[in-house]
Amino acid sequence: MLRLRYATPPAWTTIATGDLDAFLRDHAANERKVSHSALTLAVQHYARSELVAALIEVAQEELEHFRQVFEALRARGGHLGPDMPDPYTGALHRQVKHPEVDTYLLRRLVLFAVIEARGHERFAMLTEALDPGPLKQLYAELTRSEARHHALYLRLARQTFGEAAARACLDWLLDVEAEVIRGLPLRAALH
Ligand SMILES: [Fe+2]
Ligand SMILES: [Fe+2]
Repeated sequence: MLRLRYATPPAWTTIATGDLDAFLRDHAANERKVSHSALTLAVQHYARSELVAALIEVAQEELEHFRQVFEALRARGGHLGPDMPDPYTGALHRQVKHPEVDTYLLRRLVLFAVIEARGHERFAMLTEALDPGPLKQLYAELTRSEARHHALYLRLARQTFGEAAARACLDWLLDVEAEVIRGLPLRAALH
């Protein structure tokens, strides 16, 4: 697994498990948004059929995660929250914007890989902290799936743009991501 350049402090786990309903509401929204982002990328690059096929598959998996987290909320007597902007992904998306179509695609593929790596880190922390039960099991599964998605997005970036370009972009984005997440307050949310 990729080495992120900012390690989430253990206090985050305490905060997230301290208000699991809030955390689950935010997490559900995240799954919905990453599914949507994958489809947006597919539509924007409709002629790259191999890329589109991979993105549709990820979008389906993320949509299934959305359903699973929604069901976890519902099982606790909770419900989804309103659509709220996510300061983490908002800041990152602003940084990767680029007028050149290919550069923008490369940056987003690598960004999605880094976001999956962050999800992997935090779901692993949560899995460790949760009491044995269905929720712990769900987060153990989601941790594994984030690792797969992370690898997939990096592979797509390498296949499409070559090893050197993907590595340079990753090196840049790891610093950007670390800076963004370090500046955000810890809260009962994925980011
Ligand atoms: Fe997911
Ligand atoms: Fe994912």
